Amino acid sequence: MSDLIHLGSVNERPKAPRPEELNLQFSDEAIAELDRLKTHYPNLKACILPGLWIAQREYGGYLNGEAIAEVAHRLGRSYAEVEGVATFYSMYNTAQAVGKHMIEVCTCLSCHMCGAYRIADYLKEKLGVGFGETTADGVFTLHEVECLNACDRAPLLQIGPDYHGPVDKAYVDRLLDDLRARSQSSVTQLADDIVKVHLQPTDRYSR
Ligand code: FES
Repeated sequence: MSDLIHLGSVNERPKAPRPEELNLQFSDEAIAELDRLKTHYPNLKACILPGLWIAQREYGGYLNGEAIAEVAHRLGRSYAEVEGVATFYSMYNTAQAVGKHMIEVCTCLSCHMCGAYRIADYLKEKLGVGFGETTADGVFTLHEVECLNACDRAPLLQIGPDYHGPVDKAYVDRLLDDLRARSQSSVTQLADDIVKVHLQPTDRYSR
């Protein structure tokens, strides 16, 4: 099989669940949040982005086909439209299930100059995974990202809602121990924080 065909199969999206197959999983709290968000925007199309953040939290950090179908169903939009939005933005996890904590390593210019790849190699060695991979115990996913807009803290890592930098190997050791001891997923924590920002009162489009 050629590389091209192989890449195509990796990126293949799951088929959209049929309406009669929907297994809606939003909690009562999530449904109430979405109902409030509907009053913040002039139309339901505008709710797709915050709706996807609710789904990313409710589905454990990964927007699978069911999650996207639930957002489409609750907003009265097509599956294709919601999937198109979800797969356009890199902060939505649509390619694969992710670990409890996603370690995002900035390797852009400033971080690169300050040793980002040394930190990345150290993380790969300690975790036994490469970029885009998740540890066998499901705790960590490692990702390479573009500039996180905090270049003065290079080399920088983002984990959930938190920035860590400048980091060195000793910092990474302490950080991994701390993350392993946490009960809450920083991936869903980030999604929840973003939902809360969207929920802040606005009278712009209140109905
Ligand atoms: S280059 Fe890493 S935060 Fe800007």
